[in-house]
Amino acid sequence: MTADRLTDQTILVTGGAGFIGSHLANALVAENDVRVLDNLTTGDRAHVPDSATFIEGDIRDDEALARATDGVDVIFHEAALVSVQGSVEDPLTSHEINSTATLELLEAARAEDARVVLASSAAIYGHPDSVPITETDPKDPTSPYGLGKLSVDHYARLYNELYDLETIALRYFNAFGPGQVAGDYSGVISIFLDQALGGDPITVNGEGTQTRDFVYVDDIVQANLRAATTDVVGEAYNVGTGDSVTIRELAEHVQAVTDTDSEIVYTDPRPGDIQHSSADISKATADLDYEPTVSFQAGLERTAEWYRSQ
Ligand code: UD1
Repeated sequence: MTADRLTDQTILVTGGAGFIGSHLANALVAENDVRVLDNLTTGDRAHVPDSATFIEGDIRDDEALARATDGVDVIFHEAALVSVQGSVEDPLTSHEINSTATLELLEAARAEDARVVLASSAAIYGHPDSVPITETDPKDPTSPYGLGKLSVDHYARLYNELYDLETIALRYFNAFGPGQVAGDYSGVISIFLDQALGGDPITVNGEGTQTRDFVYVDDIVQANLRAATTDVVGEAYNVGTGDSVTIRELAEHVQAVTDTDSEIVYTDPRPGDIQHSSADISKATADLDYEPTVSFQAGLERTAEWYRSQ
């Protein structure tokens, strides 16, 4: 597959009612036959485009998976148990969803000879020795979530080597944007915006000197679309921006974009929190022509706008 973009394909987006999956489904639906498989645990049916075929089901359910993968050309696998903290509390469920069910999905893809673009994560690296992080850096995940993503990131490569399946793993850094619903374990930007717009204090863990590479969801979508058509397969790529901000700076930006009087409060540091994270994206730029297009500031403004409209 070497086309510039995906057209006239039968595409499955797992987790397509969720944050990243629904943005992807929306980007694909005009020119392709899109199916969404989602169990609606954290996803929202309203975020699935009307013209997509919606299959309500769990990726652990063989029958639902078989129905969803029948005859597909490309699978974007976004369904996961995304809470790092949740995976610490319930490692077995995390493993069932993020590892075992993903392996089942790779088997289904093998039967269909479908390309798989898999959501991996920066969590596979654990505490980095240095930043920016390159794809070959040590992988030492600090949570069942990170370990589960590492296993399927490697399985994707192995399925290419062993069975010639076209697979690409995308290691997302800190994704944010409209549709990321604030909850106890959701991304920090959604939490801060929710706090600021609700008139509550913005809760920074520790001193807020930790840094993150926040990547806007449109750029995550861009990386996925490029991965779906590249002729370089069996590879894994960092998907971030190469820039990072401290959590304290983030809190200040959130105060500014929401124009609130919410004060910033400093709470206990989060156990096991990674201090510094930022992606070296040169491999994705070279192979996929991936280039972040939405600045942190612009992305934050758009995300705040979406929160206000909710
Ligand atoms: C995030 C993702 C994880 C992904 C990883 C990739 C979420 C929920 N987690 O983990 O799935 O694999 O990036 O790098 O999206 N913080 C506060 N106050 C809060 C909440 C968070 O100060 O109320 C701080 C945290 O201590 C942390 C930073 O914000 O230092 C980011 O936290 P979070 O959004 O949970 O993301 P990661 O832990 O980086």
